[in-house]
Amino acid sequence: DMREAKSDVHALGWDELETRVAACERCRLCEKRTQTVFGVGDREADWMLIGEAPGENEDKQGEPFVGQAGKLLDSMLRALSLARGQDVYIANVVKCRPPGNRNPEPDEVARCEPYLQRQVALVKPKLIIALGRVAAQNLLKTDASISSLRGRVHRYEDVPVIVTYHPAYLLRSLPDKAKAWADLCLAVDTYRQALAGQA
Ligand code: URA
Repeated sequence: DMREAKSDVHALGWDELETRVAACERCRLCEKRTQTVFGVGDREADWMLIGEAPGENEDKQGEPFVGQAGKLLDSMLRALSLARGQDVYIANVVKCRPPGNRNPEPDEVARCEPYLQRQVALVKPKLIIALGRVAAQNLLKTDASISSLRGRVHRYEDVPVIVTYHPAYLLRSLPDKAKAWADLCLAVDTYRQALAGQA
């Protein structure tokens, strides 16, 4: 049953978890995917970035944020002297591409949630950035808008969470790029405070 499956996932190591996700048939998204998109980067990263779901390019290549939005995300990371594979781990709320890039349904998110929870538990990031509404609302269990969530520090399992716009949205909105920059600055401040708090 669901509870058993969930507690089971919570005991898995990286390799077992990745194998489990690759074979997942917990929801209807398995029917139309090319492949699952597990996550990419440094598995001991201090920073974890969480997006929504794979798009067409990600579904083909098996890696998160490899399309246009991903290029912008890489630039945002570069501005912070970060890179995928170096201090950053990137994953999505949902591991399979929703057909036509529709938003994931609540039951699809619920079925996939233990995988992301386990990824966060294994990475043990010092900071999480939620990219866009779907990631923010599902991580923080809220219906609030991005504009009301950004600009302050939230928590997910005790890890500080900064909310910002999704890079695919930023590609179309110049004014909000300035706000996203402010969000990244808040992320850096929050990260520094997390490090100082540990010392
Ligand atoms: N958008 C996302 O939210 N995630 C990806 O991996 C690609 C695009």
